[in-house]
Order: sequence, then C-alpha cells, then structure tokens
Amino acid sequence: MARKKITVVGAGHVGATAALWLATKELGDVVLLDIVEGVPQGKSLDLMETAPIEDFDSNVKGTNDYKDTAGSDVVIITAGIPRKPGMSRSDLINTNVGILKTVVEGIVKHSPNAIILVVTNPLDVMVYAAWKFSGLPANRIMGLSGALDGSRMRSFIAMELGVSMEDVHAMVIGGHADEMVPLKRYATVSGVPITQLLSPEKIDAIMARTKKAGGEIVGLLKTGSAYYAPSAAVSEMAEAILKDKKRVIPCAAYCDGQYGVKGIFIGVPAMLGSNGVEKILEIELDSDEKKEFMGSVAAIKGLIEELKIGG
Ligand code: APR
Repeated sequence: MARKKITVVGAGHVGATAALWLATKELGDVVLLDIVEGVPQGKSLDLMETAPIEDFDSNVKGTNDYKDTAGSDVVIITAGIPRKPGMSRSDLINTNVGILKTVVEGIVKHSPNAIILVVTNPLDVMVYAAWKFSGLPANRIMGLSGALDGSRMRSFIAMELGVSMEDVHAMVIGGHADEMVPLKRYATVSGVPITQLLSPEKIDAIMARTKKAGGEIVGLLKTGSAYYAPSAAVSEMAEAILKDKKRVIPCAAYCDGQYGVKGIFIGVPAMLGSNGVEKILEIELDSDEKKEFMGSVAAIKGLIEELKIGG
C-alpha cells in the first residue's frame, strides 16, 4: 500500500508537535511548511533524527514551497498569528483570514483532492473562510474543536474521579469558543452517566472549566497557547480520515440544515472517513442544550459578518 502524505502548514508549536504525532504513529510521510525559512527544515531534520530512537519510518520534510506539498491526502492548517497587544478581534480575524487565503490557495493548487483540517483560531470562522477560498465540497473541510474540547472535559472528569482517562467519554459541541456546549448528559465512565457519579455542583464546575480550558493554559504559559492536546486531537482526526475509520468525532463541520443550522461550520458529532465528514449525527438535545447551541450559532454568524470576504 502506498504511503499516505500529510502536509502540516505552520511549523510552530501546534504544527511541529502534530508532525511528531503523525510521524511516530506512521500515518504517512509528513511535509511541514512554514513561511519562515529554516524553521520547518530544522524541525523536520530534528524529527528525522528522532526516528531511529522512536522506530518510525515516516519521512518528514521541511519546506517553504507549496510544490513539495503536491498530492497530499490530508492537510492540517495551523498557520496564523496570535493576537497582539492593541489588536482588535476583528483585526486578528482579518489578518488570519489573509494568511489562510494564501495557504489554502497554495494547497488546493497542488493537492486538489486533499481533505483539509483547520486548527487556526478563531476556529469556526477560519474553517468557513478556508472553505470559501478552497472551492472544495464542504465535506472535505473541517475544523478542530470537539476532539480537543471533549478530551479536555474527559481529562477533568477522570482527574476528579481518579479513574482511567481511557474509560471516560464526553462530547462537546457548538463553537470552539466560550460558547461551546459540553454535553453532561452524554458524558460517561464506561457507559455509566457521570450524573450518577458526580454531584451537580462538580459537574457544573467541570463544564465551566472545559469552556475556559484554552484560556487556563494561556494564563499559565503567559506567552503562547496550548499545543500538546490540540496537536494530538487534530492527529486523531487525521488518523480517522487516513484509515477510513468512520470514527464519530465532534468537529466544526458544515451544516446544511442539521440542528436547524444552514450555511456555517460549527461543532457537531461527525463521522470521519476517507471522504472527510461523511455524516453528521443529529443527537437529541434538551431545551437548555439547544439554547446554548443556538447561542454558538449566533456568535459564529456575528464573526462571519466581520469577515472582509463577505458572508
Ligand atoms: N504561511 C505559512 N506559515 C505561516 C504563515 C503563512 N502565511 N503565517 C504564519 N505562519 C506560521 C508562523 O511562522 C508560525 O511558525 O504559523 C506558525 C504559527 O505557530 P505558533 O505561532 O507557534 O502558533 P501555535 O501555537 O502553533 O498556534 C497556531 O493554532 O491553536 C491555534 O490559536 C492557535 O491560531 C493558532 C494556531
């Protein structure tokens, strides 16, 4: 079987760490691309020098040239700039949208059949912009949200109960922002609802911490944002696609009427396989969950209106 090819755009914290996960799991050969000369080359060489120790045979190549990305099966986009002092949210969005335009055009030109996973924040609006720039069918583009937010919620539940992380499942839908919707009714420990294992106060605290989990890390790091869990989560999505696993992983997927939402990308439970988002699962939401989800929809629509590419 021919090796798969995975491109990671942005060789910063998230991108380089994703390259490490992808290579160690031997999901394919990895191309790491960045606008800065030397950085993707240096990090890739460092990763190749890791291979004999970790026993992987994925090739990792660093580049500044989109030609090297040709024929990629999956492309992970982490390129972007963080918010700088004095920069408005709208400035940040439009700067990152500008970066995304260059990136997506470069990618699609050389890999018209790729499936694109967007990591750059603000996530839901960046996926939307990437889709607009790509001209690809919406099932081929998605964004990292629930895989990360759900993993954070799972870790908080497991730490609270002192049980294995492996046995805890949790689903977070909605926008990848403060308006995300952790679904306590669907969180379980080996199938047992957490509502039978934790007090309502503890569950509320875990849900609140999940919503602010990205900010909690930023607050601790002072410079920069989380990258181990984000890169692991997007690699998990890439694996589901590359191996056609049909895994159900919530992510920012294009809704065309599902959950009463049309024309935007938002976190929903999605079945991921070789065709990208192959199906959106419409699960039952109670009235509070629906209300919160629609709050996310409104927030995302508001951000899309700020886009200079037009809604
Ligand atoms: N083309 C390619 N790479 C670019 C471009 C561009 N036009 N513009 C910026 N980059 C690169 C930067 O050179 C840098 O190496 O994107 C990389 C971003 O890396 P970091 O600054 O380390 O950011 P990181 O922590 O990896 O986060 C990346 O993921 O989780 C999100 O909010 C986070 O949007 C951010 C993204």
